[in-house]
Amino acid sequence: MKKYIIGNWKMNLTVTESSSYATSLLYDLPAYPDVVTIICPGFLALSSVADVIRDHGIGLGAQNCYWRDSGAFTGEVAAAQLRDLVQYVIIGHSERRHVFNEDDRDIRFKVQAALRNKLKPILCVGETEDERSSGDTEHVLEDQVASGLLNVPSDMIDKIIVAYEPVWAIGSNASATDSDIVSAINTVKEQIQHMFGDKARLVPVLYGGSANATNGGHIMALAGVDGLLLGRASLDANEFHKLISLAGELTTKEQG
Ligand code: PGA
Repeated sequence: MKKYIIGNWKMNLTVTESSSYATSLLYDLPAYPDVVTIICPGFLALSSVADVIRDHGIGLGAQNCYWRDSGAFTGEVAAAQLRDLVQYVIIGHSERRHVFNEDDRDIRFKVQAALRNKLKPILCVGETEDERSSGDTEHVLEDQVASGLLNVPSDMIDKIIVAYEPVWAIGSNASATDSDIVSAINTVKEQIQHMFGDKARLVPVLYGGSANATNGGHIMALAGVDGLLLGRASLDANEFHKLISLAGELTTKEQG
């Protein structure tokens, strides 16, 4: 099974900084056949970063999109406008859900818009601290996956990536515990299997939330974890390289 290393740069780096960071990422970039590396800069930098990474085996993703394909939606960016530039789009990130109040319906429509425009959605799901302490993690994850993937045709399920990101672990200094990660990822995978049967195995499920080069190798080796979605750790080229190498070593070991 492949491992995914995805960098979400969030609202960091100017256009110039993004291109020079992309250039530094390419320098000595570890290449492994079974590691899928994707970077997600801010919208304004997508075009210049696309020029830098072209033909270097790195995927490019946007951090969000709107679900209509065109029209009077001031300030929004349509999946239809992104499709010439990127292959992936992050949808339903915790900050979209909780800072910008996106609900499950918005997120579902965005997943549909991405697929309609031949982009691969990276659907993020995760419980808040309150939901966790009231013992609702499982239900929240089942609902978010069920709603986000509702109406996805089964022949398109292989275009989906899901990231489990507990809201309370994002931007903190503590990732979830091993057993929390394994059980949450298992819940997500079971829900996908419930909806899509055997084809569920085509959907990589990643972990995100304070993952970094120190804990990343360990987390990626946990049962069911198909890779990492990284915020802060993706903003340091050395650390990001290290994470790609850790993923590469794991895939090589799995084959050997
Ligand atoms: P973090 O962010 O790695 O900085 O915790 C993860 C994310 O929001 O995807």
